[in-house]
Amino acid sequence: MTKGLRKGLTSYGDEGFSLFLRKAFIKAMGYSDDALSRPIVGITNTYSDYNPCHGNVPQLVEAVKRGVMLAGAMPMAFPTISIHESFSHPTSMFLRNLMAMDTEEMIRAQPMDAVVVIGGCDKTLPAQIMGAVSVDLPTVVVPVGPMVVGHHRGEVLGACTDCRRLWSAHRAGEIDEAEIAAVNGRLAPSVGTCMVMGTASTMACITEIMGLSLPMSATVPAPHAERIRIAEESGRVAAQMAVSGGPRPSEILTPSAFRNAAVVLQAIGGSTNGVIHLTAIANRTPHGFSMAHLDQVGRDAPVLIDLKPSGSHYMEHFHHAGGMPKLIAQLGDLLDLHAKTITGETLAEIAARAEDVPGQDVIRPRSNPIKREGSMAVLTGNLAPRGAIIKSAAASPHLLQHTGRAVVFESVEDMTARVDDPDLDVTADDVLVLRNAGPKGAPGMPEAGYLPIPKKLGRQGVKDMVRISDARMSGTAFGSIVLHITPESADGGPLALVRNGDLIQLDVAGRRIDLLVEEEELARRRDELERAPRREAPARGYARLFEETVLQADEGCDFSFLRLPK
Ligand code: FES
Ligand code: MG
Repeated sequence: MTKGLRKGLTSYGDEGFSLFLRKAFIKAMGYSDDALSRPIVGITNTYSDYNPCHGNVPQLVEAVKRGVMLAGAMPMAFPTISIHESFSHPTSMFLRNLMAMDTEEMIRAQPMDAVVVIGGCDKTLPAQIMGAVSVDLPTVVVPVGPMVVGHHRGEVLGACTDCRRLWSAHRAGEIDEAEIAAVNGRLAPSVGTCMVMGTASTMACITEIMGLSLPMSATVPAPHAERIRIAEESGRVAAQMAVSGGPRPSEILTPSAFRNAAVVLQAIGGSTNGVIHLTAIANRTPHGFSMAHLDQVGRDAPVLIDLKPSGSHYMEHFHHAGGMPKLIAQLGDLLDLHAKTITGETLAEIAARAEDVPGQDVIRPRSNPIKREGSMAVLTGNLAPRGAIIKSAAASPHLLQHTGRAVVFESVEDMTARVDDPDLDVTADDVLVLRNAGPKGAPGMPEAGYLPIPKKLGRQGVKDMVRISDARMSGTAFGSIVLHITPESADGGPLALVRNGDLIQLDVAGRRIDLLVEEEELARRRDELERAPRREAPARGYARLFEETVLQADEGCDFSFLRLPK
């Protein structure tokens, strides 16, 4: 097999001339013939002035390069799209597949024998893994790492669970302007990803359990020296993979790897977004990720990690308590410990080296879990024929069985306009319904599922209500919230049929979400809806591609043409 600069050589006349031309151009960068004769490790550079989560990427790229060179190979960094949660209009989810395509095609287009992808902010690791899996070139993932925690008046703060909590307190009049302004400068005190168990941390943990990154990669804080050493070591490993040609993602991402990912997703109290991303990744392999299996796993796998938003600590505490190797050791036979990682080591070997940290209470033993069952449950019912998710670990126990009157919002805009209206007919026992916020509806499935508690109820001390939607929710949020209702309302889902005052029944123990309206009446409403004017599709561009090809949440919201045909 051809390696290095000869890889994927396009022919400009004879092959010799093509290589001559390629070398002539790249030598303009000052490389020697020796450098250009080595196996090549590509490194994605996702630094952007718009992406504070990736603020340490330049340092990590440099460290990966050092590792690659120490092992005798040639590093070549190249840019790909960078996506930050707060700077991605309309949503970062809208751009995830674009990043996956960019990553895939740039790995394919340029000569490299292995690739190191460096990412972290929510959608970036999933996008990079989706792309890398489709190319199936030996791949090492280097997460950028979580931020360190912030402090305010003796209290530990984290992005962005505490952003929501303190903003709610501000809305309720408990925190004044001056204090909320001070908090604003303390919530994200360093580069790196949100340091609670949000989507970024969830996906970093999933990446580590699936064997695509080195041990401890998920948890070392972004500004720590150890993070840089992991990047250097990742470069070394990638160089060895470039020489040996493996393992490839297809050898790592086995059915066991996905089963282990489901167990870890439950045990860490992971983000509901992780379900969508894992499904998208799995659908690019010959395997799959089933919601029914995730629910089944959740009945046996306890929540062992005590992190916000469902618990009380932050990623750096998880790290200092022993990180993922310690969690693997605690989960034991719930995992397939024979599963292999990029270094060839098995999870059993990694767990055997896990550090014992006396007195730590972040990683619980199975005998003393945070919660006996996993963190999320999969619901179905006449409101969600293809499924919905609830993060039960972050919900109020008294609302897990609840029947209430629907208070319907037609869209995110409608919700924003009316939720705080003092005349809104709503009580704490009602069920807030948001629709037209799914993959196509909004578009890009915004994290609007965390509907705010109407101000007038918040002022009365109401902290939680049942809220349901076809939207997603930030992994850093909490509450009794049913998400990802599939099919979405904009794609013919029954959520479109709900009317104000209808009764909605949530039964988490029975895994059901139902609209208590006669089938005859629903059929009448469906008829009416079909006669109503249709929403207009975007006229052109990426938005058009998105609208035409995005799959529903139960299929990972990938584009239909990017899945591996099965
Ligand atoms: Fe980047 Fe939270 S905003 S991980
Ligand atoms: Mg997020």
